[in-house]
Amino acid sequence: MPPYYRRNRNRNPITTFKFVCAAFILSFYLLYIAFHKPQAVARKYPKPQRTRIQLEKWKNGTGKAGQMRKERVRKAMHHTFWGYRKKAWGFDDIMPVSGNVYNSRNGWGAFIVDTSTTLALMGMWEELRLSLDFILDDIDFDNPGGLVDPFETTIRYLGALVSLTELADAKVIPTSVMSAEKRQKLLKKTEHLGRRLLPAYNSPTGLPWPRVNFTTHTGVADPPTVHKLDPSKPHYKNPAVGPARAGSNILENCVLTKLTGNSDYCGHATGSWAHLVWNRWIVDDAPGLVDGPIDIFTAEPVGRQKHWDAGHDSYYEYLIKASLLLPHSPNAKWYTKRWVHAAEALRHNLSSRAKPSSNYAESHLYMGKINGPWYLNEQSHLACFAPGNLLLGGRHLNRGDLVILGQALLEGCRHSYQTTPTGIGPEVWSWSAASPYRNGTFTPTSPRQISEFANHGFWVVDPQYKLRPEYMESLFYAWRITGEQRYREWAWQAFEAMETHCKTPNGFAGLKDVMAKPVKGENPAWVDESESFWGAETLKYAWLIFEDVGVGSLDEWIYSTEGHLFRRPP
Ligand SMILES: *[C@@H]1O[C@H](CO)[C@@H](O)[C@H](O)[C@H]1NC(C)=O
Ligand SMILES: *[C@@H]1O[C@H](CO)[C@@H](O)[C@H](O)[C@H]1NC(C)=O
Ligand SMILES: *[C@@H]1O[C@H](CO)[C@@H](O)[C@H](O)[C@H]1NC(C)=O
Ligand SMILES: *[C@@H]1O[C@H](CO)[C@@H](O)[C@H](O)[C@H]1NC(C)=O
Repeated sequence: MPPYYRRNRNRNPITTFKFVCAAFILSFYLLYIAFHKPQAVARKYPKPQRTRIQLEKWKNGTGKAGQMRKERVRKAMHHTFWGYRKKAWGFDDIMPVSGNVYNSRNGWGAFIVDTSTTLALMGMWEELRLSLDFILDDIDFDNPGGLVDPFETTIRYLGALVSLTELADAKVIPTSVMSAEKRQKLLKKTEHLGRRLLPAYNSPTGLPWPRVNFTTHTGVADPPTVHKLDPSKPHYKNPAVGPARAGSNILENCVLTKLTGNSDYCGHATGSWAHLVWNRWIVDDAPGLVDGPIDIFTAEPVGRQKHWDAGHDSYYEYLIKASLLLPHSPNAKWYTKRWVHAAEALRHNLSSRAKPSSNYAESHLYMGKINGPWYLNEQSHLACFAPGNLLLGGRHLNRGDLVILGQALLEGCRHSYQTTPTGIGPEVWSWSAASPYRNGTFTPTSPRQISEFANHGFWVVDPQYKLRPEYMESLFYAWRITGEQRYREWAWQAFEAMETHCKTPNGFAGLKDVMAKPVKGENPAWVDESESFWGAETLKYAWLIFEDVGVGSLDEWIYSTEGHLFRRPP
């Protein structure tokens, strides 16, 4: 008989006891793992909590309104709305000097849709009722009268429409203005537009086509005539888009998915910006910054520009805002990580301190650009959104260094306003960089630029003001996050300058030259244009700065790149 039989048969009771004990312990352990592991993991990685963004002591948001100033901004909105209503109702925009009209956004009444969320916040109910009726009854999204730009249409139209439903759900808009029935109708119309825009993402990579043909439901390239007319524009083999076009759809579309339950919208927008977030061409010496533009057939960069300025801006803006909107998404930690890297690169690789000049001893911090091996010492007004975004993300992630960077860059933007004869900043300016390692490629050339540099420490590259909101936007974040009174004062100075120089009998107009000395009794040289972001953003942020800090609180709301509000999840 083989020995093991014997051993078995003659099994020692103590051995058996040991075996049973071991089995017990093992099964207890397995049970423990099965039932306790998830909690153990949850303890280690707590569920994300909604962070407080606004100054802690304003939790209850009372008694902080600047009544007189707030009313003055509201009056400007009133003047803007009724000027448009009288002369341009139903067109995209009014020409504020001549009183003529123009369509640049498919003629769906961009002004009405884009400014509607400002009317809602300001409680301008009569005006909002007129706008809602127009949106529900008169806009025909099936009839665009030309190709549709998915980027502009998403941020201006889709964003505003989605936001109106959010504002109604949060009871900011009362049911007397938007009934449950109107809300349903609005959401249906919003989803119709959202679905119409989906062919934009039907490219080999999921990156958006520059235009959509609403008749054939296909994505198409830029109209070729644009390139033919402008030989200075680079010509790429395949359609190419900047990071902003690929990466500024996610908030609008994910809120639409939340409201409708249809995952297509958020899914396509996520697929598009995945090429940026998990970019294969990110280089180690500036992680977080992506090269642009990007070929939509291959997802390869065809240019070597890296910056937070025009064409790239709102991708970086949306990284932190997407992590606020989707904190429970498994991707959120990537969005946060990318944003932190991009913010650090903004600090180390793009920011540049200006050299003092002969008549101007102070030195400000500005944001330049990288183009391949070159540093471009040039900033546009558009980049002045970045200080506010750094304040938002810096506060959310408890990164005091990024908050301070935001404040320093905002002070640079302020200098571009405060030092001009009109008190309004130019569209593009340039400076002489203090650092010998990154001294930039531009120098002042004309006598005017040389004298501007001597007296202001920067020179103007494009002297227009186009009613842009970015400076006001950053002041809004700075005020709500730090509570420093000076930001309110800077906002008031800028608003008063706009009221003085931009107001026309029909609305508000841009300026041809912010450096032109105003002549008493004479109109400034106006630009006969008024884009919808004047009402959607510039006036909204100005008003919010003087309104009670509890209204449109950053603890409750995320603002889109066009100033439309989406609710933060609990
Ligand atoms: C806010 O209000 C609540 C209840 O009214 C009160 O308990 C709390 O102390 C207030 N917080 C602040 C920061 O004033
Ligand atoms: C859309 O495509 C159709 C078919 O190719 C074409 O006839 C039409 O002109 C296009 N629409 C626009 C606005 O280009
Ligand atoms: C960005 O700055 C970091 C830190 O100073 C440096 O190591 C890196 O080489 C810079 N990258 C570029 C592209 O300039
Ligand atoms: C930047 O520095 C380099 C080398 O120090 C110099 O050759 C170049 O002229 C400088 N450019 C400007 C715009 O000052």
